[in-house]
Amino acid sequence: MYRTHTCGCLRAGNVNETVTLAGWVQKVRNLGAMTFIDLRDRYGLTQITVEEHSPAEVREAAARVGREWVLRVTGRVVEREAKNPKMPTGDIEVVAERIEVLNEAQTPPFTIEENSDGGDDLRMKYRYLDLRRPPLQRNMILRHKMAQEIRRFLDAEGFLEIETPYLIKSTPEGARDFVVPSRMNPNQFYALPQSPQTLKQLLMVAGYDRYFQIVRCFRDEDLRADRQPEFTQIDCEMSFVEQEDVLEIFERWAKHMFREVLGVEFPEPLRRMPWIEAMEKYGSDKPDLRFGMEFADLTDLAKGHGFSVFDDAEYITGFAATGCATYTRKQIDALTEFVKRPQVGAKGLIWIRVEEGAVKSSIDKFFSPEEVQALAARCGAKAGDMVFILCGKKFKALTQLCALRLEVAQQLGLRDPKKFAPLWVVDFPMFEWDDETQRFYAMHHPFTSPKPEDVQYLKSDPGRVRANAYDFVCNGTELGGGSIRIHDQQLQAQIFECLGFTPEAAEEQFGFLMNAFKYGAPPHGGLAFGFDRMCSLFGGSDSIRDYIAFPKNNAGRDVMLDAPSAIAPAQLDELCLDLRKPEA
Ligand code: AMO
Repeated sequence: MYRTHTCGCLRAGNVNETVTLAGWVQKVRNLGAMTFIDLRDRYGLTQITVEEHSPAEVREAAARVGREWVLRVTGRVVEREAKNPKMPTGDIEVVAERIEVLNEAQTPPFTIEENSDGGDDLRMKYRYLDLRRPPLQRNMILRHKMAQEIRRFLDAEGFLEIETPYLIKSTPEGARDFVVPSRMNPNQFYALPQSPQTLKQLLMVAGYDRYFQIVRCFRDEDLRADRQPEFTQIDCEMSFVEQEDVLEIFERWAKHMFREVLGVEFPEPLRRMPWIEAMEKYGSDKPDLRFGMEFADLTDLAKGHGFSVFDDAEYITGFAATGCATYTRKQIDALTEFVKRPQVGAKGLIWIRVEEGAVKSSIDKFFSPEEVQALAARCGAKAGDMVFILCGKKFKALTQLCALRLEVAQQLGLRDPKKFAPLWVVDFPMFEWDDETQRFYAMHHPFTSPKPEDVQYLKSDPGRVRANAYDFVCNGTELGGGSIRIHDQQLQAQIFECLGFTPEAAEEQFGFLMNAFKYGAPPHGGLAFGFDRMCSLFGGSDSIRDYIAFPKNNAGRDVMLDAPSAIAPAQLDELCLDLRKPEA
């Protein structure tokens, strides 16, 4: 037996027992007569003591060992004189009778403790060392627990876990595909799934009416804190369901997760917010409802006062920043700079300072105090608040104001990671117009069904058609999304046409699905949750990287493996591939 106990489990009750531990040396303190070694494994730390009268080979070994050496230590548990109440094992220490060096280690490039002194890049390069640190271990344990809980719940509800292939034909989900060349089929490529969307729909055609999978998805898109090129979805699909059935079961599931993993209860039904309300009140289809500061439409009040910025704008919107009337000129200037950054893109920021019985604003020249008062009142401002206003094209202005709302909330400490405000966003538009390419795109994906009452507008006014689609949102993050699918071949063909596919292109890309629909496709729908995002939300962090054992960096590289990398000329030959110099 390698060890009798782990480094995290010995307590006062074990005093006088002879134990064997194995682990890594976190720290060695040599105090002349005594040497203390902190021995670590994933369960905790135990202090090993080597005394003046310990056996000579034990003293020699203790003198030799360095950080991260792997040891096996046998000794007697004794009560510590100086107890450490901060450590679970702080009441005891193990007086070493035998130290066996299982492996030596080079000095690690950063400290492997609760807080490390290593920078991001260095820790990514030596991820296996970073993963030894307790915070990352806690994250991996949380992820594991959540995966178990997901399976437990869905299994009890009759969902079958079925794997789908990774080497598939491209499924459009709005990002670029990662592709894999086929040696056996020269000049042909597989795509890695952006999600198993079409495959899970085929499982419905096959009669597996409740499917789930905790599955890796691959998307070649620009990375952010909540995006990785490969990430994990909790992917689900059900047959013979309507939107209400899907929302009911996954609301119950989400509440189960909050309860079982975090001990957080949501006794009331979750809020369901139509997409248009989310956009107009919060400027986002993933509103952060941990705090208020809702937007008001000021267009009718603000236009026609000779202020050309307002008069020329399609839409004018503002919100009352709670308690911000005390903001100094400098703070307002900083927020103005914030909204003018290219990432936000506003031209300027209008403000109204609301004080007891008086208002002051950056538009006093054009508006009477009563008119300014009316603008502030529309935003629900109270004395002590500061109103911020942006204008322009409707959805642009709303999105820009959303960035400001979140920034102000951040400054006010309102984005508390221990508070959770989940909701469903429903009634999404079916299509999204893209100015650049001058065409409609599916807001969700091309397999989403339109609301039956809106089907009549598919040809005449596609922008007006709403979808049977829904997102699960929490704290300003889209945790999951899905829809009721089209199961009718003709309607599917009509949607492909709205999206600009010729019948030939639709057949080429989606023939397999359209064909399947000829053989008795049941009504079906589902959704997928972002597992990494859910872990980071539950763990209280903004970055999903912390919850993935081996993540990529922001440039999509695995700096530990040094991937992507060149392949051997022989491999290229086999694949019939010639390389070209990238354009500068
Ligand atoms: P969607 O594209 O909305 O839907 O993805 C579902 C959820 O996956 C998470 N997610 C990501 N997480 C990390 N990194 C990424 N790059 C990333 N992209 C998405 C989000 C998101 O809500 N097939 C549909 C689902 C369906 O209709 O059933 C789909 O993939 O949390």
